[in-house]
Amino acid sequence: MCGIIGYIGPREATPLLIEGLRRMEYRGYDSAGVALWDGEAIEVRRAAGKIAKLEAAIAADPVDGMVGIGHTRWATHGAPNERNAHPHLSADGSVAVVHNGIIENASVLRGALQDLGYVFRSDTDTEVIAHLVQELFDGSLEEAVIHALRKIEGTYGIAVISSRDPGKIVAARKGSPLLIGVGNGENFLASDASAILAHTRQVVYLDDGDVAVIERDSYRVIDLNAMPLPRDVDRIDWDLAEIERGGYAHFMLKEIFEQPQSVENTMRGRLMLEDGTAKLGGLNLSHEDLLRIDNIIITACGTSWHSALIGELLIEELARIPVEVEYASEFRYRNPIVTERTLCIVMSQSGETADTLAAMREAKRRGARTLGLVNVVGSTIAREDDGGVYLHAGPEIGVASTKAFTSQVVALALFTLKLARKRDLSVVRGREIAQALHALPAQIQEVLDRAPAVEAIAERFKDATNFLYLGRGFNFPAALEGALKLKEISYIHAEGYPAAEMKHGPIALIDEHMPVVFIAPHDAVFDKIVSNIQEVKARSGTTIVITSRDEPALRGLIDHEIRIPETLDMLMPILASVPLQLLAYYIAVKRGAHVDQPRNLAKSVTVE
Ligand code: AGP
Repeated sequence: MCGIIGYIGPREATPLLIEGLRRMEYRGYDSAGVALWDGEAIEVRRAAGKIAKLEAAIAADPVDGMVGIGHTRWATHGAPNERNAHPHLSADGSVAVVHNGIIENASVLRGALQDLGYVFRSDTDTEVIAHLVQELFDGSLEEAVIHALRKIEGTYGIAVISSRDPGKIVAARKGSPLLIGVGNGENFLASDASAILAHTRQVVYLDDGDVAVIERDSYRVIDLNAMPLPRDVDRIDWDLAEIERGGYAHFMLKEIFEQPQSVENTMRGRLMLEDGTAKLGGLNLSHEDLLRIDNIIITACGTSWHSALIGELLIEELARIPVEVEYASEFRYRNPIVTERTLCIVMSQSGETADTLAAMREAKRRGARTLGLVNVVGSTIAREDDGGVYLHAGPEIGVASTKAFTSQVVALALFTLKLARKRDLSVVRGREIAQALHALPAQIQEVLDRAPAVEAIAERFKDATNFLYLGRGFNFPAALEGALKLKEISYIHAEGYPAAEMKHGPIALIDEHMPVVFIAPHDAVFDKIVSNIQEVKARSGTTIVITSRDEPALRGLIDHEIRIPETLDMLMPILASVPLQLLAYYIAVKRGAHVDQPRNLAKSVTVE
């Protein structure tokens, strides 16, 4: 989704802004731009398309200065062209604004400003902010921004510079993440820590309602009444190397191959093999709290929602607590049954997904305890939840989530283990699960070692137009996730179903052109899924079967086989999802698709 970068200091800002924008490319965008104070006026350069186009525009008409802001835009209001790209200038050119989020009362404000004679040059909601700040300016940029924000309804992360108060960047946040990068004699602003990590590890995360006034040697955070707010400086503890490709052709491939380590990191220091339980420091739930839980709601979007479905099965199986999995976008607009004995688990890789954040706030408002399972440290969900379990999967840059998914399932398994051991689960069973979790990293490596076989299957099916993914029990969510991966990055239509559900409709689609991926390890429902594979073969469908043994029952039914190691049924989706990720990846690459930044998608969806 949109990205914001800002710089103020002794260095030429343009290359720093471009570098920051490049680091945020993974978030997804369709235009980009920069605005700089060059000592006399504010200069803006923008371009539709990739950052290379912006660089070309700057090369054709160079611009520099020591105060600047930049933006990558993911279109919401108005087409993704140059005139709608940010930054937007006020009518007299004295104010430049970049904005993430949506101004809900933009058309009302636009009408009022037009009545005052302001002429709009874009179709965006953001342009109203630039004109408003110009209109309300009375000597201090932060005061003008605060006055403007009081008139605005909606969500924003903004950065503003002005030629009438040039030695500062004013930023504000409501619903869209922003942080200050604290340097030595220079300061940064960014919507994503990766944009500034090459220059500083010291960051100040802004909260909703914060306004930051950033100058070369100092910064301050104030509220919308201009009263000072204390804000801590945090330290980012991951490395630049983690957000670089390190020899892999794509971030997605790197992240798929990182899974032995990322899963290990999710468990590190938490898995108690001897006691058959897990130690989770950030839960903020006492023994009594864990016993008081009557029901659990897990809310999430996309891939995180798929991991939530596995969580539901895990918790109900082991801890015997009723669980409902809710699309975050639906949860907040209905009347869910939430009591003070409800635990709301919030799953999010980014910790910034707007729907998920809003669902968490709604659950809190209704009295539930909230528990965030989040990857990005310091993200909004992680800061607002009542307790949390960080995934520690490391930065995930590819838009298609891979290592975060497997770490989410592992984190859910750890939480379930702890919860279940506090309730009815025996130590013997707890140990068995803990041992199986412990074995996962090496087993994932075994699957990864078979990547060439998956690539060969991808070659065979790269021109398919449809795919079905079928699984049962714990592997049904893995089927959904496999289908989503393929759709997202290869643009092939794919559907995931519980395998037995196929005969209630999708079976009509089966013919010799329909590849069907079955997740059929040797588990409790193996015999059942064999029947479903027979149903497909009987209709000339082509089968790609992920299985864990040389099963006589499968002979003659498999056109293409992918073997995975055996584990407990409940952990099987972790191993099964790895070849599904690889299959989607190799197919997308062979079709020439833009794997890390698929069309129309954003890494973190910070608008509703
Ligand atoms: C995953 O491949 C997707 N790009 C998407 O579905 C994602 O999982 C979803 O937007 C939720 O994101 P979050 O986990 O950061 O909240």
